[in-house]
Amino acid sequence: LPGAPKPPLKVLLAGPRGFCAGVDRAIKIVELAIERYGAPVYVRHEIVHNRFVVEGLQAKGAVFVEELDEIPDDGQPVIFSAHGVPKSVPAAADARQMLYLDATCPLVSKVHREAERHHTNGSHILLIGHAGHPEVVGTMGQLPPGAVTLVEDAEQAATVEPPPGPLAYATQTTLSVDDTAEVLDVLRARFPGLSAPVKEDICYATTNRQAAVKAIAERCELIVVVGAANSSNSVRLREVAEKAGCPRAVLVPRGRDFDPAEADGLSTIGITAGASAPEVLVEEVIARLRERFDVTTEDVTVAEERIVFNLPRPLRAPRPAPT
Ligand code: F3S
Repeated sequence: LPGAPKPPLKVLLAGPRGFCAGVDRAIKIVELAIERYGAPVYVRHEIVHNRFVVEGLQAKGAVFVEELDEIPDDGQPVIFSAHGVPKSVPAAADARQMLYLDATCPLVSKVHREAERHHTNGSHILLIGHAGHPEVVGTMGQLPPGAVTLVEDAEQAATVEPPPGPLAYATQTTLSVDDTAEVLDVLRARFPGLSAPVKEDICYATTNRQAAVKAIAERCELIVVVGAANSSNSVRLREVAEKAGCPRAVLVPRGRDFDPAEADGLSTIGITAGASAPEVLVEEVIARLRERFDVTTEDVTVAEERIVFNLPRPLRAPRPAPT
């Protein structure tokens, strides 16, 4: 009723949520490249999996393509997305003498280098990840065909038949920590000599966002994950929320896609956001809730993140001249 008091709603904000250092860096690379080289700057694949981010960069002069052959020879640079690319992509860019900037997250590059190291040492690689995801395509494309076997889940781990000889594993950076542990249990039981990465492949941002959503899951009757349907870590957050005891979790791209009536009759809900979702989209969802409820928010932060990655050399600010 107009004028009637709005029902109260408690909103737990999971922290950390949203942008990670790799996404932050990738977006900055596109923005700085446009400043430095002028528009258009080409970007191979969505720089990060978020429409809002992509459209914002398009408005500034970025042109998104899926493959290099869509780019004319106009001397303008091309940027590779945060997910990483197979080796064939920079090779093709070199062959065309294109100027390219690599926005691959340094933590994805780390997985690439480890896979190469294991391959050089004679191991066959079992890559735990999701078929078709650009990060998986990029990691597999670091090595010659046949050097890597993809394992998508515990079922496949139980039946995979790698070639005889030493084995090592690598993983996508944005997997569910718990599901991956299960897959690894199965693999280690079957292949006791399986070599591990020196440092965990699932990145700090994925791990922290999942820990944060777990910390609120049992207190929430609904969890809203702000993120894109093609964003691996966002999709995982929704699954982790339900597995950790929240009765229902939904993935929404942004405020306008969320019907606040979803929270009718509830007293506590949670919000988190995938690593590619900007905070302004979380604010949109909260604004939608305020249309219907008397909202009080509570931050539940499980970790502080201070990690920042360097920009690629051509985009670093020139050092001030010595005086
Ligand atoms: Fe990098 Fe992890 Fe973000 S791999 S892009 S820091 S989700």
